[in-house]
Amino acid sequence: MAIISLINRKGGVGKSTISLNLAAGLATHEARKPGGKSVLLIDMDDQLSATITAMGGGFGQDFQRAITAQPNFAQALAEGSVASESLIIDSLVPRSREEKVKTFLTNKASMEGLEAALKAQTDPAFQLTYFLEPFRNEYAHIIIDNPPSAGMLPLNSLVASSHVLIPIEPDGLSLIGLADILRMVESVRSTTNPGLSVLGIIPSRFRIVRRQSRDVIESMERMYGHLLLPYIKDLADISAATTAGYDVFSYCPEKSQAYRCFSNLVDAVLGKLGQV
Ligand SMILES: Nc1ncnc2c1ncn2[C@@H]1O[C@H](COP(=O)(O)OP(=O)(O)O)[C@@H](O)[C@H]1O
Ligand SMILES: [Mg+2]
Repeated sequence: MAIISLINRKGGVGKSTISLNLAAGLATHEARKPGGKSVLLIDMDDQLSATITAMGGGFGQDFQRAITAQPNFAQALAEGSVASESLIIDSLVPRSREEKVKTFLTNKASMEGLEAALKAQTDPAFQLTYFLEPFRNEYAHIIIDNPPSAGMLPLNSLVASSHVLIPIEPDGLSLIGLADILRMVESVRSTTNPGLSVLGIIPSRFRIVRRQSRDVIESMERMYGHLLLPYIKDLADISAATTAGYDVFSYCPEKSQAYRCFSNLVDAVLGKLGQV
């Protein structure tokens, strides 16, 4: 089983969008396998964008129940308890398939207090690892969406993860940000989680017409070529799917660019995990 964290200190680079669509794509892949297991999507960002999209999008009402739940994921984690199936619900994605991505009942207010609650524990960075212990072999994959920070929440995610995916919006400063993230991953690997590896870097919201984007991609290829995964273009379809509370695979035609970007990404991730 892979536990994959989507990490970037910057907001708006596509972490939540990729988390959701990767989870949906992996769930579809699992559903086609005999004896396939479920995929769990964990939302560590108190903005709860991945959860809201997974529960039908911000214009619906379905997500309200999932983000105001009592008891909930954030509270259980803050109290130092372990995860239980009673906190897990079926999301609505992939919309076009029966086998749904699972997610936690959560709560926006409890999420907002989570960082402080974790810091009050004796082992603050290990709480998510302990929490997920009962789920180690229950799920095919666990995808963890993270807030745009380098604080205690992403640190918990990195300590609990086997792999990291780094979405990068290719602009002038993104290479500096990338070096920072790789340093953070390296520090977690050398101090607490030797099993952690960088699964890849995803050029995200990529606009091919922009000279600057192409230059940054060229530099990334030179410096991190072995880590580069298929890029996700900046496409109106992708944000429309997210807003509507759909995964791209259910919202966009199979021949669309959006569909192809994400199915290439899912295939590449499965290939890197050695599961094609
Ligand atoms: N590839 C893309 N093409 C078009 N819009 C995108 C793409 N990826 C993300 N977006 C939009 O950009 C905004 C930020 O994306 P999001 O995934 O929430 O980023 P993050 O989680 O890194 O803050 C959202 O409104 C989302 O719909
Ligand atoms: Mg996000």
